[in-house]
Amino acid sequence: MADTQEGCCRCCCSFVFTLGLTALFMWLSLRADKPKSSIINFYLPALNRTLNDFNNSTNYSLYFTLKLNNPNKDKGINYDDVKVNISVFDIQTGNASLLGNYAVPRFYQGHKKKAQKQGQLDYNKTMVSKGLYPNGTAEFQLDMVTQVRFKILFWRTKRHQINVKAKFAVDDKGTKVNPRKKKDVPLTSTAPKRGYCNLVMGILVNFVILKFPSFW
Ligand SMILES: *[C@@H]1O[C@H](CO)[C@@H](O)[C@H](O)[C@H]1NC(C)=O
Ligand SMILES: *[C@@H]1O[C@H](CO)[C@@H](O)[C@H](O)[C@H]1NC(C)=O
Ligand SMILES: *[C@@H]1O[C@H](CO)[C@@H](O)[C@H](O)[C@H]1NC(C)=O
Ligand SMILES: *[C@@H]1O[C@H](CO)[C@@H](O)[C@H](O)[C@H]1NC(C)=O
Ligand SMILES: *[C@@H]1O[C@H](CO)[C@@H](O)[C@H](O)[C@H]1NC(C)=O
Ligand SMILES: *[C@@H]1O[C@H](CO)[C@@H](O)[C@H](O)[C@H]1NC(C)=O
Repeated sequence: MADTQEGCCRCCCSFVFTLGLTALFMWLSLRADKPKSSIINFYLPALNRTLNDFNNSTNYSLYFTLKLNNPNKDKGINYDDVKVNISVFDIQTGNASLLGNYAVPRFYQGHKKKAQKQGQLDYNKTMVSKGLYPNGTAEFQLDMVTQVRFKILFWRTKRHQINVKAKFAVDDKGTKVNPRKKKDVPLTSTAPKRGYCNLVMGILVNFVILKFPSFW
């Protein structure tokens, strides 16, 4: 009688232990890092003083290049349309004026891959002139919003929201100023830092509930 109870307890313990190990293993192999993004190029020909004065420019467009990196060693990323807003800060009011938007069409990115995506838009000349300091510099903000699904082995996770932005200056050559002597302007999250744990748990739950049964 006592023996059976002990055996049962041992069996139960080892079951829980195995379950724990499996969960740990799955957590380690399934956790996914969100993509890293930065602005590697941002140029307004009208603000290039060696080319023209702002008011006699023939080109009131702006051009930018984004870099999107997949930091995961073994997970691909499906990006939904990557939506970008660009604003300039009015030097009188300090308010941001939306200059326009651009969308990078959805794409897939393999593990450890880097992608460069170019965009451009025509802006309102009055809005940018209101953001122009006498020394020819102006302050801009780029907002980027998208959703990603991670591809793990043969399945995809649910969508995860990405909201990032950067505020940066453009000099009198019309290009972004490198902050802290770095080449790129990193886009940083606008959401409070709580997403990571949810992401891991989401993947785990998604895997166990939706995918695991089909393995048997
Ligand atoms: C600004 O204009 C000059 C003269 O056309 C050109 O040489 C230079 O490359 C331009 N700057 C940028 C950042 O394109
Ligand atoms: C614009 O004006 C500046 C001086 O105000 C002049 O040097 C430059 O040649 C003009 N550029 C164009 C394209 O008219
Ligand atoms: C600037 O923004 C403030 C609120 O942030 C608003 O009260 C004010 O009206 C805005 N000014 C202009 C000129 O839009
Ligand atoms: C440009 O922005 C100004 C306000 O900053 C606005 O009065 C004007 O109508 C805008 N022009 C166009 C073409 O949208
Ligand atoms: C230009 O003027 C603005 C505002 O006074 C200042 O913040 C910025 O550092 C200046 N830029 C340069 C390159 O001098
Ligand atoms: C761009 O601005 C519009 C209007 O304010 C807003 O609805 C949209 O969510 C913004 N998109 C991004 C990427 O910030």
